[in-house]
This record gives sequence, C-alpha cells and structure tokens, in this order.
Amino acid sequence: SPSSSLNEKSVLITAGPTREAIDPVRYISNHSSGKMGIALADIAAARGARVTLVLGPTNLRPSDPAVQVMPVTTALEMYEAAETAHAQSDVAIFTAAVADYRPENPSLAKIKKKEAHLHLSLIKNPDIAGALGKKKTTRQIHVGFALETDEGYRSAEGKLASKNFDFIVLNSLLDPEAGFQKDTNQVTFFSGNEKSEKTPVLKKDELASLILDRVEARIRETEAD
Ligand code: PMT
Repeated sequence: SPSSSLNEKSVLITAGPTREAIDPVRYISNHSSGKMGIALADIAAARGARVTLVLGPTNLRPSDPAVQVMPVTTALEMYEAAETAHAQSDVAIFTAAVADYRPENPSLAKIKKKEAHLHLSLIKNPDIAGALGKKKTTRQIHVGFALETDEGYRSAEGKLASKNFDFIVLNSLLDPEAGFQKDTNQVTFFSGNEKSEKTPVLKKDELASLILDRVEARIRETEAD
C-alpha cells in the first residue's frame, strides 16, 4: 500500500532452520518451521515491500507469490544468499534459527555403526546477522530474534549490541505458546533506548504486523535525519 513506509522498500528475511550434514544420510538441525519468517514475508509484501526470503529447509511457503524465495540448506548457503540480497536491502530481519556449528569433516559415505562412542568434531558457522551487522549502513535497518530457554533479557541485550540490531525480538521456550512450530508467539522487544515490552500471546501474523509497525517507525526516523 502506498501509504506504508515499507512501500517499495527492499526487505531481506532469513527464516527456517539450517541443516548441517554429518554424512549423506544424517544431519544436525533444529525445530524451526519457518512460520515466523514466512508471516513477516507475507505481511511486508502486502505493505508493498519487495521481499527476498532466504528460507532453510521446510515445506511451508509464503502465500504471496510476489515474495522471492531463495531456498537454502546449510548455514554457509544461507550466509551467501543473505549477503548477496543484503547489499540491495533497506531492511533485514533475521528470523532464521541458524546452526551455530557444523560437522567439520562430513563423511562422504554413510557412517557405519561400530564402537559404543562416536565423536563428531564441530566447527563454528558464520554468524550471518553479526557479519552483515558489520556492513550495515546508517540507512539500513536490522531486526534480530533471540531464542532462549529462560527469561534471557541479558542475553537478548547482548545480542542487540554485538550484532548491531536496531531492535531485537526475544522469545522464550518458557512461554508455552511461543517459539518453534506454533502458530502463536509471545515476545519481548528490546531496542536499547526504551523500556523492554512484553506482548501478549499473538498469532504469528499479528506479531509480524507489530514487528513491521516498529520497522516502519524506524524508517520514518532514519528518513527524517
Ligand atoms: O520458524 P518457527 O517455527 O516459526 O520458529 C520461530 C523461531 C523460534 C525460530 C524465531 O522466532 C526465532 O527466535 N528465531 C531466532 C532463533 C535463534 O537462532 O536465535 P539465536 O538467539 O541463536 O540468534 C540470535 C540472532 O542471530 C537471530 O536473529 C539469528 O537469526 C541470528 N543468527 C544466529 C546465528 C548465526 N550463525 N547466524 C545468525 O544470523
């Protein structure tokens, strides 16, 4: 819609899990379905944004055909796709649950069952939001997510600063209607300058609207500078 501050803006969204191969048969991953990021993609597109959705493995897809989906599997692939799209984007929203580590030497053949213990050596994946946060210009707006198994306030504030986000959206696995796979979420917003604010339980598309309202307010602030 022409009245939206997102109209004709380029928006990059990362979403879903990543998969890191152990061998041709097995992988390390997590429970992300992609729902939160897909909801953001559909609502940003409805507000007139050009949306690129870098989406890890999931069968779910946005309903708006205008969303450009870039399917990826691993964190390294997600990094490459996000880095390319980031150069042209006004807004980047990092919803993906990226595997922090990957097997260092994935086996080319299926690993056979032998000893009682099997040791996997893992190596760190790139921090996508962190690396793009270093390249961020004053005109670009970055939104992060933080998933914690506790209240996680300090951790969210730490990520807000270290990854150079404009604001971060904390969801906690302590909240029964929040997080992975559900159609609802409950979050706390942190922006560094105002008091943190916890939302009620909302449908993921309602929460996506709230997040994008905050993005629009940020766009108006940066454009007024
Ligand atoms: O997909 P759903 O089933 O709908 O579930 C939604 C969700 C729970 C996955 C989502 O709401 C969410 O919380 N996503 C972030 C999960 C996460 O990995 O958080 P984190 O605290 O580990 O990471 C902090 C931020 O850095 C995130 O914005 C993450 O995308 C980003 N990150 C993390 C690691 C990494 N290597 N690269 C990154 O870009």
